[in-house]
Amino acid sequence: MKLKFDYNNMMASAVGAHGVKPSEIDKAAALHTAAYKEVIDNSGKGWQEWTETPMISDEQIAELSAFGKSIRDKASSFVVLGIGGSALGPISVCNALLHLHHNELPEKQRKAPKLYVEDNIDPERMAALFDVIDVKTTYFNVITKSGETSETLSQFLILYNALKKAVGEAAAKEHIFVTTTIGKGSLYAVAQKEGFKIFGIPGGVGGRFSVLSNVGLVPFAVMGIDISGLLYGARAMREACERPDVRSNPALMTAFLQVKSMKDGKNVSVMMPYADGLRTMSDFYCQIWAESLGKAVNKKGKTVNCGQTPAKSLGVTDQHSQVQLYTEGPFDKVVTFIGVETFGDSVEIPAAETAEIGDFLKGHTLNELINAERKATEFALTKAGRSNYTILLPHVDAETVGELLMYFMYVTAFAGAYLGIDTFNQPGVEEGKKATFAMIGRAGYEQKLAEVNAAIKSDDYIIC
Ligand code: PA5
Repeated sequence: MKLKFDYNNMMASAVGAHGVKPSEIDKAAALHTAAYKEVIDNSGKGWQEWTETPMISDEQIAELSAFGKSIRDKASSFVVLGIGGSALGPISVCNALLHLHHNELPEKQRKAPKLYVEDNIDPERMAALFDVIDVKTTYFNVITKSGETSETLSQFLILYNALKKAVGEAAAKEHIFVTTTIGKGSLYAVAQKEGFKIFGIPGGVGGRFSVLSNVGLVPFAVMGIDISGLLYGARAMREACERPDVRSNPALMTAFLQVKSMKDGKNVSVMMPYADGLRTMSDFYCQIWAESLGKAVNKKGKTVNCGQTPAKSLGVTDQHSQVQLYTEGPFDKVVTFIGVETFGDSVEIPAAETAEIGDFLKGHTLNELINAERKATEFALTKAGRSNYTILLPHVDAETVGELLMYFMYVTAFAGAYLGIDTFNQPGVEEGKKATFAMIGRAGYEQKLAEVNAAIKSDDYIIC
């Protein structure tokens, strides 16, 4: 494992009354064992098939890479249609591993098509997409685990229609490939009928745990991302997360500290990477943490209404926006810093030509400054008694990103196990999906429509 985890600032020795005492970690030995067993004993089973996603063979990787190259060589743009877990993995990894201004790079330098991950159905965004892509040379990956999500299906219908008009029916089929559950859902049925290439998603891999399945790997292959490195990193982290001792297992330790903090009233989990490339890792984290742990009942059916609200923050940008609150506001947060030791580029700060600025920045680099600011913020928060911990990446590359993703998945699974809830369902999301079907007039949802229509809305509380 290349990542380093520093929990010092979660401890009472650093943050006083709001911290955790070493004895509290030791006293919870039975809880650690139970949480560990629940996750590890179920590895690869039921909804925990995600633990196996990094284990694909070299042949499978070679096949995916060859497919990706065949698209990369002919596409001017590559569009991913998906939402939630079917979009955030591709977004976070591509953001981390591609050039930060990938789409704006001159074609010769870009080495891969322009990338658009369309995870919303704002009509203006759809119209804007048509303004920047040439449909004739654009390829589309439609991703939906259920094959039923209204947002993704509507996007698919719009784009397939546009494609047919632009290149004709036969050629249009070559521009679309789908990633979905084999044998299930509307998208699979359409893909079979139309003859689109289909990539499967294993039955026991849920959306937010699917980044290392074909959901992520197909887009990564198209974009020329190092899949082998990503999976290698994920496997290294899997090994670390299978260590039975809480003090050497980063995911088990994080889960325990977060759940304990949550129970002590720290209801907000702030994810604060100090690297623009990792900005959307916070989106990935926010989804997996919120959707997995925000649950009404525990596995015994008892009402618990648990969960910790995840919040996104970017270092150093949000030091000038959020950190005042983190330092002096309510003691309701745990801040996770993500630091990068060595950046891909080094930018020196030139000597000031004006005496007014002075020379305190002279001879330093932005690299030194960003890391000094992260450490300074860690210090300030700790001094103010605010719980925080740091994940340190030696650098951002496929391996370390693979490690980080796997860590997020294991932390979430262990946290759910400590809480005694079903980590892998999302009844709250499903309810909204069903209500959408009802309101849009899908057959079979008439009763739901009646329920939606019966929801009382009083004019007394509307201001216009
Ligand atoms: O994590 C999840 O299960 C959800 O966020 C889904 O990914 C999201 O609702 C999209 O579902 P689907 O992939 O079935 O279109």
